Amino acid sequence: MNRQDKPQTLRVFGRNKKQGKKLSVVTAYDLTSALIVSAGGADAILVGDSLGMVVLGHENTLPVTLDDVLHHCKAVTRARPQIPVIADMPYGSFHISSEETVRNALRLVKEGGASAVKVEGGRQRLQTIEALLAAEIPVMGHLGLTPQSVNRLGGYRVQGRGSKAAARMVDEARLLADAGCFSLILECIPSDLAQRISEAVNIPTIGIGAGPDCDGQVLVFHDMLGLFDGLSPKFVKRYANLGEQAREAIAQYTQDVREGVFPGPEHCYTSESASTGKGLNNAAQPGSSLKHKEEKEAGYLADMENGKG
Ligand code: KIV
Repeated sequence: MNRQDKPQTLRVFGRNKKQGKKLSVVTAYDLTSALIVSAGGADAILVGDSLGMVVLGHENTLPVTLDDVLHHCKAVTRARPQIPVIADMPYGSFHISSEETVRNALRLVKEGGASAVKVEGGRQRLQTIEALLAAEIPVMGHLGLTPQSVNRLGGYRVQGRGSKAAARMVDEARLLADAGCFSLILECIPSDLAQRISEAVNIPTIGIGAGPDCDGQVLVFHDMLGLFDGLSPKFVKRYANLGEQAREAIAQYTQDVREGVFPGPEHCYTSESASTGKGLNNAAQPGSSLKHKEEKEAGYLADMENGKG
C-alpha cells in the first residue's frame, strides 16, 4: 500500500471475510521490516513473539518478555505503516490475573501503538479475552500449535489430528469467536480441519501451516525472505533468498576493503568545500548529478550538526 493511502483499520479483517477476499499478514519487528511489509501491500502486521527466535536468538518463544515485544512494537509503529499492527502477548504476560493481563496489554496499545493483541489458547482464555475487550482492546485468538505450550505439548507437532481433537478445536474456535475475537490464527493443523473451522466461525481465520482454505495466511518475515536458517517447517514458503544475497554482499565488501577497491572516488570528499557543507569535504563535479547529490547531502549533514536531524 502507498503510505499516502487512507490508513487501514482492523475492519479490514471482517470486511475481507465477508467479501471472500484473502488476508495477507506478515510479522515485522522493526522499522525496516514494517516499511517493507506495508509497502508490499500486506493487510496487517503481527509483532509476533517469534522475535524471540529470529531476532533475539532464543531457542523458543518462552523467554520473550513484555518489554521485548513492547520495544519491537514501538519500532514497528514508528514506521507509521498505515495497516493495523497486532502485538503478541508473550508467555507469562496474560497467565496470572485479568488485572495484570489488561495492564500489560494496555502498555502494548498506549506505549507500543498496537491496534490489537494476540493471545494463544482456547477455552482457558475466555476470561482473559472478556477482560481485554472490556478495556477496549481487540483480541486475535490463536489455536492449534501454540508455541507457548511447547512444554505441555511435548514439542512442535501438528495439532487437531483425529476426530475427537478436531471436534474439540472446532468448539474452541466457536467459543473464541463468540467471546468477541476479531480473528483467529490457526497454526499447524490439518487443512480439512482448518476449512471446517473457517466455515464454522464468522471471524476470519489466518492460517500458518493450516492449508489454503483459511481466510488469510501469516508468515514470519525472516522465514519467507530466507533470512533465517534455523528451523524451517514444511509450511514455510520462501519467497526470496535474502540471507544468501546478504552473505554474498558482505563477502564482496570484505574483499573490496581488503583489496582497497572500496571506498572508490565516488564515495570520498575532497578538501575544497562546496555549497553549504560546513567543514564537509566535498568532491562535487560542477553540473553533475554528483554535485546535486552532495549539495543535498551537505544540507542534511548541516541539519544533523545543528541538531535538526
Ligand atoms: O509469533 C509469531 O510470529 C506468531 C505467528 C507465527 C502466528 O505467532
